[in-house]
Amino acid sequence: MSNNVRPENMKRINTFELANEFIDEQIKEIRRQVGDKKVLLALSGGVDSSVVAALLIKAIGKQLVCVHVNHGLMRKGESEQVIEVFGKELDANLIYIDATDRFLNLLQGVSDPEKKRKIIGGEFIKVFDEEAAKIEGISFLAQGTIYPDILESDGVKAHHNVGGLPEDMEMELVEPVKLLYKDEVRVVGEALGLPHAMVYRQPFPGPGLGVRCLGAITRDRLHALREADAILREEFDICGLAEKVWQYFIAIPDMTAVGVIDGKRLDGWCAIIRAVNTTDAMTATIEEIPYEVLHKITARITSEVNGISRVLMDITPKPVGTIEFE
Ligand code: XMP
Repeated sequence: MSNNVRPENMKRINTFELANEFIDEQIKEIRRQVGDKKVLLALSGGVDSSVVAALLIKAIGKQLVCVHVNHGLMRKGESEQVIEVFGKELDANLIYIDATDRFLNLLQGVSDPEKKRKIIGGEFIKVFDEEAAKIEGISFLAQGTIYPDILESDGVKAHHNVGGLPEDMEMELVEPVKLLYKDEVRVVGEALGLPHAMVYRQPFPGPGLGVRCLGAITRDRLHALREADAILREEFDICGLAEKVWQYFIAIPDMTAVGVIDGKRLDGWCAIIRAVNTTDAMTATIEEIPYEVLHKITARITSEVNGISRVLMDITPKPVGTIEFE
């Protein structure tokens, strides 16, 4: 399909000026395509879907219906940010669904990582489908497809991403950023006024914390993971590593180790820090984090998060380790 090929003379969008030109063109194009019809968008809060949402809100306002499904595996504050930015600041037509119980009930007792991914992906489609069926008069489906998704068109993202939508959804697609590279999507996002932290968010897998809460997910361990991860992110922000490191997170395996807290024995979990640098996610190197930062993170996690007795660090590059720890 020729309209899926980036023209050779297309300029790399790396300034606000070029971003604004792109935005103006796309607004016209979206209005031409959509007319007065309604458009549906699964808004995860990730960079691509957020930029598409902001662009469509600018072009067609309330004709866009955003659905944010909280699968209970988001990082701390993420769903809240979607509601704040899109529901309140941009006054979008936003439907928020807290499906935490549905997902966690289905995942109960499931420890195989691939099975967990399938359950999360399948349930996401179901929830989204159910919601879409309740809304009348939707003619278009917007998607945050970007150029690398088209280039890797064996559909790596489409099939392993939770955002992958049912193939039988018979709606015409609206994909305004499909010819852009990630760095360009970010520039466009900033030009649209989205918060820097949202636009420069590190990659986050569709199945979310579900792949980092290893083994069978329990609510208490998931809670500990979310809190420990938030501390890691906060400390990386404070010491400037957040701007430098490509991806960093906590994983918590399904095992305990003996610790001592207030003179009492505690069978606690082990929080594992992973912080990697890469350009294409095919290979990755380990960021050398200063010990003083590691000490501070360890002290905070063990004192502020209930149930964690140890903090460990994964120093395995990719290969042989994958970036995620699952
Ligand atoms: P691995 O663990 O395979 O990860 O080395 C490579 C990159 O892909 C991300 N990842 C995902 N991204 N949906 C996504 O959109 C997913 O299901 C998914 N699983 C892993 C991972 O975070 C890393 O950046």
